[in-house]
Amino acid sequence: MSKSTQKKNAVPLSKEAQSIRGSIPVAIVAAVAGLLFGYDTGVISGAILFLKTDFHLSATSEEFVVASVLVGAILGAMAGGFMADRFGRRKMLIVAAIVFGGAALVTAFTPNMALLIAGRIGVGIAIGSASFTAPLYISEIAPARIRGALVSLNQLAITSGIVVAYLVDFLFAGTQDWRAMFGLAVIPAAMLLVGMLLMPRSPRWLMGHGLQNEAVTAMKRLHQDVSRELVEIKHDIIPKSSNGVKLWTPALRPVIIIGVGLAIFQQITGINTIVYYAPTIFEMAGMHSASVAILATFGVGMANVLMTLVAIRLVDRVGRRPLLLYGTAGMVVSLGALGIIFHLSGISGILAWITLISLVVYVASFAIGLGPVFWLLISEIYPLVVRGRAMSLATIMNWASNLLVTLSFLSLIRWMGRGNTFWLFGAIGIGTWAFIYYLVPETKGRSLESIEQGSSAEKSPDLALLPPHV
Ligand code: BGC
Repeated sequence: MSKSTQKKNAVPLSKEAQSIRGSIPVAIVAAVAGLLFGYDTGVISGAILFLKTDFHLSATSEEFVVASVLVGAILGAMAGGFMADRFGRRKMLIVAAIVFGGAALVTAFTPNMALLIAGRIGVGIAIGSASFTAPLYISEIAPARIRGALVSLNQLAITSGIVVAYLVDFLFAGTQDWRAMFGLAVIPAAMLLVGMLLMPRSPRWLMGHGLQNEAVTAMKRLHQDVSRELVEIKHDIIPKSSNGVKLWTPALRPVIIIGVGLAIFQQITGINTIVYYAPTIFEMAGMHSASVAILATFGVGMANVLMTLVAIRLVDRVGRRPLLLYGTAGMVVSLGALGIIFHLSGISGILAWITLISLVVYVASFAIGLGPVFWLLISEIYPLVVRGRAMSLATIMNWASNLLVTLSFLSLIRWMGRGNTFWLFGAIGIGTWAFIYYLVPETKGRSLESIEQGSSAEKSPDLALLPPHV
């Protein structure tokens, strides 16, 4: 068949298919922010070994270097909310890319410790603001039917960034080149900058600021069905400045509690004790060879990536709640098993392998539930007028809880023992499950506007937000 006949016979794409096609590349570009998030949080585990010798770090200053990125992230999340609402999602991501790149260069070329810490705080500021602006932007450009998958691309990028960081650490370990480890982050930073400069602005943000013509242009670039989308978005948007709108009002309280609660639970069930300390845990479990520990760490990282892919396939089909509930249950079971293993004296042989399997199950369960779905839900449940600030609040709590767990993990182990520490995370996991079961709504397939209507004051927020079974 000739090309021209093929063209004539081709069935024209439906409007929805066109808009799905239009949104995928945009989501991929924004998700590069996730790659930076994962890379820059993961890279320190290897770099710190060589920084310690080069700068003669004491235990306290070592903790300081590791924690500096988290402190920066809290600051970035604080500043980012207001800015994302005021200046727009796309602009925020562009600024974050510039800060990412600049700070990565500072850490790569630093002559001293002070500048190193300043650079890591800078990297953190970029991570903190981009960590919620990327899902926010993607959720606002995505068609409802595939919004879960597109927003979760960001989590896929985070987990891939972590694995790439492990690999880079491994490759440069021979030459002890921590400067290269930090410096390489410039490449994705430049990709994000150039990519975002070419992307359209969020039509929802534009409409919220009364810029209808610009919103129509952006929708056309996204191949969206302008007439339908416009009516839908217009119906719910009353352009007004977000600054005057309080977050802690009776109408918003349920969604604020859900976002902040999930943010804290995502961290205090212990995920980053594994992501940041995996080799240490494997050593505790009797794997004394460095290469086995590295390989095992890589395996855990890959489980994180692969199960995030599964979550992406499922999240718009089975919904957010089942993934959260099954994922959290898997975390509780594997934490229970880890607790039992570490209560037994002298782990070796088969027990070391059971430890590895339990860790893989734990990370895989996180990757199918709390990992992607937390970031997805906070990009969906808030009304447009406060979306940036409300997401920023949840993100601040997420990074602050991350800092708390990261700084206290080794002390917890010293204080209450390894077995009890994992059981503590498991017990918190049970609380997390109950929180999700009773409070978290299903948002699958609904437009952001219909979710918003459910949470607006006029429409009985309490009823609208209750999970379907209640
Ligand atoms: C969490 C990070 C974590 C990562 C691991 C993200 O959703 O917010 O703290 O390191 O998942 O995959």
